[in-house]
Amino acid sequence: MEHVNLGIVGLGNVGSGTVTILAENARQITEKLGFPLAVKAVCSLDVDQVRLPEALDPVFKTTDWRQVATHPEVDIVAELVGGTTVAAEIITTALSLRKSVVTANKELLALRGAELWELAISSGANLAMEASVAGGIPIHAVLREGISGDRVVALYGILNGTSNYILTEMEKRGDTLEAVLKEAQRMGLAEADPSADVDGYDARSKLALLSALAFGERITPSDIFTEGIRRISPVDFQYAHRLAHTIRLICAARQTPEGLLLSVRPALVPQATILAGVRGAYNAIWVKGAYGEDTFYYGRGAGSRPTGVAVVSDLMRVAREIRRGSPERVSPFAHERLGEYRPLPVTCEKQPYYLRFRVDDRPGIIAALAGILAGKSVSLEAVLQVPCDNKHDLPFVITVEPTTEQSVREAAAEMARLDFLLEPPLVMPLAQPF
Ligand code: HSE
Repeated sequence: MEHVNLGIVGLGNVGSGTVTILAENARQITEKLGFPLAVKAVCSLDVDQVRLPEALDPVFKTTDWRQVATHPEVDIVAELVGGTTVAAEIITTALSLRKSVVTANKELLALRGAELWELAISSGANLAMEASVAGGIPIHAVLREGISGDRVVALYGILNGTSNYILTEMEKRGDTLEAVLKEAQRMGLAEADPSADVDGYDARSKLALLSALAFGERITPSDIFTEGIRRISPVDFQYAHRLAHTIRLICAARQTPEGLLLSVRPALVPQATILAGVRGAYNAIWVKGAYGEDTFYYGRGAGSRPTGVAVVSDLMRVAREIRRGSPERVSPFAHERLGEYRPLPVTCEKQPYYLRFRVDDRPGIIAALAGILAGKSVSLEAVLQVPCDNKHDLPFVITVEPTTEQSVREAAAEMARLDFLLEPPLVMPLAQPF
C-alpha cells in the first residue's frame, strides 16, 4: 500500500487538530482509503517547540514553508496559516509544482479563489477548501455535490461562532456586549482584536464563498452589505422577546427577480424558526432549494478538532483522486466557471423593520418620529416600551410594516438629527423571508 505524502504548513489551532487526527485516527483513515496518509513535512515558525504526535515520526520539520511546498516527496500541501499574503505564496507555489492544496483559508479563497482554481486546473492539481467555512459542517460538500442537482433559491447562515456566542450570552444573562466580549476574550473564545468577528467581516468572507458555490457567481466580499453586532444592547433582546423573536447575526443570500441579494447583518429572527435555536459558538446553514426545498446543517463552526476533521476529510478525498490517477475535476466552487456578480443594493429590500430609540424623554417624541415615518410613506405597526426609570435614557421601539430599506434609512437619517435622541436609531430587519 503506497502512502500519499502530506506537507502541513501551519501548526496553530487548525494545524494541530489536523495532525492529531491524522495520528490518532490513522487506522480508520487507512481502512477507508485502502492506503495510508503519511505526514512527510511540517512547517511552523515555532516548530522546535511544537510536540508532534509520536505516531507521525519521522517527519521533516522546518520554519521555512518553501521547504514543504517544494518538497519532492510531498503530494498534497495543507495551507493552514491563514491570511492573504504568505498563504497565497504557499498555495501558488504548491499548485505550480502540480501539488494539490487543501486549505482552511476563507479570506484568501473569498478574494482569489476562482483565480487559484484556474491555476489548479492548468497544473492538473486539485484545490480543496471544506475547512474554510463553518469548520465542522461539511457545507461545501453539500453544495458542491450533495444537493448540486437542485437550484438554490436562498441560503441563510449563522457563520460566525464568536458573535453568536456573544449574542446568545447577552440574551441569557442580560449583560452588555462589552462585558460578554471581555469574558469571551479571557476564555480564548474571542480574539484580542475582535473586529473580524463582531463587525461581520469574517462572516462576510464565508457568505461570499458559500454564495459562489450556491449561485455560481464570483462575489467580491466588499460588495456584500455588512453590519456587525456592536450596537445590540440587552434591551434589544427584551423587545425582541416581546415580539416573539430573538436576534442573530444573519448571513443572507437570496435570488430575487432583480438578481442575488446578499447581506450580513443582525436581524430579528422568529423564536419559532430553527435558526433561533442556534446558540453559543455554533454555526448553521439553512438552504432552500427549488426542488428539494429546505435542508439545514448545524455544528461547530470553528475549533481545532472540528476544523481538523474538515481538513483531514479533504486530504483523504484529494489523496484518493491522486492514488486513482484521475484528479477530480469538480470545481471547489461547484460550478465550472463562475459568472460575474452584479451587486444589488440592499436598499431595494422590502420587509418589516424594527427601530430602537434611546431618548431624553419629553412630550411630542412619538409624534415627531411618526411624522418623519409618515413623510416617507412608512406605516407604523406598533410602539413598544418596557418599564424604565431613567427618563433621560429611555429606550423604546417602533416596528413598521413592510417598506423598502431605502425609505427606512432615509427616515432614520432624518431622525438622527433630532435633539432628544441619544444615538441614531438602531434599525434591524424584523422578519427575513425565512
Ligand atoms: N472566528 C471565527 C468564528 C472562526 O468565531 O466563527 C474562524 O472562522
